[in-house]
Amino acid sequence: MTNSPLALVHEFLPARENTNVHTLLLLHGTGGSQFDLLPVGERLLPTAALLSPLGNVSENGMARFFRRLSPGVFDLDDLRLRTHELVQFVEAAAATYELDKTRIIAAGYSNGANMAASLLLLAPGTLHAAVLFRPMVPLVPAKKPSLDGVNVLICGGRHDEVVAPEEAVRLAELLHESNAAVSIHWSDAGHGLTSQEIAYARDWLSGKLGIKS
Ligand code: MLT
Repeated sequence: MTNSPLALVHEFLPARENTNVHTLLLLHGTGGSQFDLLPVGERLLPTAALLSPLGNVSENGMARFFRRLSPGVFDLDDLRLRTHELVQFVEAAAATYELDKTRIIAAGYSNGANMAASLLLLAPGTLHAAVLFRPMVPLVPAKKPSLDGVNVLICGGRHDEVVAPEEAVRLAELLHESNAAVSIHWSDAGHGLTSQEIAYARDWLSGKLGIKS
């Protein structure tokens, strides 16, 4: 469903069952699109509704969720602005599609994982849980948020050529200090996602949500 009145171009796939469902907020990587993570979302949580926006920042024609000054160096003013825009988008989407705002789970990859981490750090209360594939520390907030009861899975690649594995560890520490329940899963992989870690994340999510898979 593209070109809707909501502020970000997006795909929305309703849940197959209508009651008590979660929504997966899918956030793609640099140069990706709103279509990229739909198959991943269907694997991660088949009962969920899928809400997948297209990042509205263009870097030489590649879509992103916020500006960067150079690889790994972020425009923090833009990051704060885009994070709050995304919160507004999620709220508008929840109203439009009648989503349970207390059951929104982010699944992000690379730049999308960084945006999901920023949502956790700057807009606590937006996400019920998050699966972050190849994230970095997007920013260190002036005041640590309170993320009690929020489960976060960080999936790192031991041979990631884009994001240093220490970034995953730093982010885990920052989220842990903010009272999130954080798990890290390492793959013998580079920056690209593997089928095995998607399966791992699916089992982790089912366990946290108490869903029998
Ligand atoms: C990317 O290429 O997307 C980086 O790894 C992460 C980012 O710039 O946010």
